[in-house]
Amino acid sequence: MVVDDNPDNMLLMRDLLSSRGYEVVAAPHAEEAERHIRFDQPDLILLDVVMPGKSGYELCRELKEDPQTRLIPVVLITGLTDREDKVRGIEAGADDFLNKPIFPEELFARVKSLLKLKEFTDELENAEAVLCTLGLSVEARDPYTEGHCERLARYASDLGEHLGLPAESLVALRRGGYLHDLGKIAVPDEILKKGANLTPQEWEIMKRHPVTGEAICKPLKSLRLVLPIIRHHHEHWNGTGYPDGLKGREIPLLPRILQVVDVYDALRTHRPYKPALSHDQAARTMIEEAHAGLWDPELVPEFFAMLQKAKAVA
Ligand SMILES: [Fe+2]
Repeated sequence: MVVDDNPDNMLLMRDLLSSRGYEVVAAPHAEEAERHIRFDQPDLILLDVVMPGKSGYELCRELKEDPQTRLIPVVLITGLTDREDKVRGIEAGADDFLNKPIFPEELFARVKSLLKLKEFTDELENAEAVLCTLGLSVEARDPYTEGHCERLARYASDLGEHLGLPAESLVALRRGGYLHDLGKIAVPDEILKKGANLTPQEWEIMKRHPVTGEAICKPLKSLRLVLPIIRHHHEHWNGTGYPDGLKGREIPLLPRILQVVDVYDALRTHRPYKPALSHDQAARTMIEEAHAGLWDPELVPEFFAMLQKAKAVA
């Protein structure tokens, strides 16, 4: 996408890029560009800085703040070589700069390298989406856990937000909701569907799922913060959990958060071997279990404080 209020520049860039086989959408101002972007996301935006109405800086900043559009590379086109303008552009989140007048070879080189980068980002996003879908397919094998991953993703990131954690931790918690039980993909149906009364051998197989899930997700660098959630979501505060028998704060915070919401959701849902508990019954059970040493004794009350706050707002 080319955004420039100067028709000569706009047509020049459009024609140059079209001559190389790129599909180009041209817009004379930020507002029209925004309409296009909402309708069909471009792979790259070449954006003039000085335009009537919304400036290139403003549009760039807005695109980079919006989770839907932040991964689209933006090249700011400036007639000024002033350092301050570049700093402003970097602050607005621009990925690169082009100076006017435009030199075709420079334009082609920038466009080519940024589109390559966009391709990698898309592939990575796809890989993550595939893993999350796999997580949901694991959930689908057990008819009693329907909607569990989605609720977990929401509750866990809400609790993270309530605790004031940074944005990247909230993203990790949301993904953790979908990915924490991914390793169950290697657990046979007859064990998975049994739910309770597993034999010691079956239990050993079941207990491998955190390590298996971690191994599946490990190659993706973008899931770095999710790995501890997957590995440690069955540890217990008193050290009796698995796979590593970690104790207290040795268990990283993010898995402890996911665990609290996981336990709550499990108590609140009906399973073949147990009825669903009411909110009050679930709260009492969890506080008792936290006293008995299973869950983080500070996080459990925080979780209920958060639910209370959410209820008050609603
Ligand atoms: Fe699990």
